[in-house]
Amino acid sequence: MRVDVLTLFPSMFDGPLDESIIKRARDADLLDLKITDIRDFARDAHKTVDDRPFGGGPGMVLKPGPVFEAVESVKTDRSRVVMLAPVGRQYNQSMARTFARFEHLVLLCGSYEGFDERICEALVDDVVSIGDYVLTNGALPAMVLIDSVTRLIPGVLGDENSASEESYGEDGLLEYPHYTRPAEFRGMKVPEVLLSGNHGEIAKWRREMARKRTAERRPDLLGEDQVARD
Ligand SMILES: C[S@@+](CC[C@H](N)C(=O)[O-])C[C@H]1O[C@@H](n2cnc3c(N)ncnc32)[C@H](O)[C@@H]1O
Repeated sequence: MRVDVLTLFPSMFDGPLDESIIKRARDADLLDLKITDIRDFARDAHKTVDDRPFGGGPGMVLKPGPVFEAVESVKTDRSRVVMLAPVGRQYNQSMARTFARFEHLVLLCGSYEGFDERICEALVDDVVSIGDYVLTNGALPAMVLIDSVTRLIPGVLGDENSASEESYGEDGLLEYPHYTRPAEFRGMKVPEVLLSGNHGEIAKWRREMARKRTAERRPDLLGEDQVARD
């Protein structure tokens, strides 16, 4: 998969995407990531990318000119252009799965008050928010999207670390609890069933725990759909 990020803060991407599974995906050419500075497309001597909002009000708005040119410099007819914005649809694992199927994502990161609306109307396929809070710019949201999508690209996670049994998977539940050695730590014991070697009982226990945890922490996930599947 190719991912182009358009941002005013390219150096924010140094580090987080050079570690761990994302680094391995990049080294293995499963993820081809390119970060572009929107300011490179400003045409005046001051490299201006923003201006005051028509109608008044606080802050500055990203101008269409540099953003249109930045998007057009990377976009092809196979690209999916995703704008990161608090006014977007709230991001979730199902959207990550959808995005993982595209061969080219263009992630458009805002700052200041956000974008001139014509950018959204003419260039953007999806507007995505990573949650109901406001960050200073779109770099962290873009990194969240890149990380969550990359681990779903076939071949990125090993078999033993498959995404299929994780939270927000096909069953729509949070994941069951994990334990590792020692079997007893400071008086706290690992549930007997996990030491039993009985795979049927273990699978049953895990399903029950996943349901219990979901009911306690995220009852919203147990909609009618889930009830109907049980
Ligand atoms: C200060 S925010 C703009 C907030 C905007 N005035 C509003 O109230 O919706 C600047 C940029 O940060 C990014 N951003 C901030 N919070 C975000 C969120 N929850 N999800 C996605 N992007 C976000 C967007 O790219 C946005 O254009």
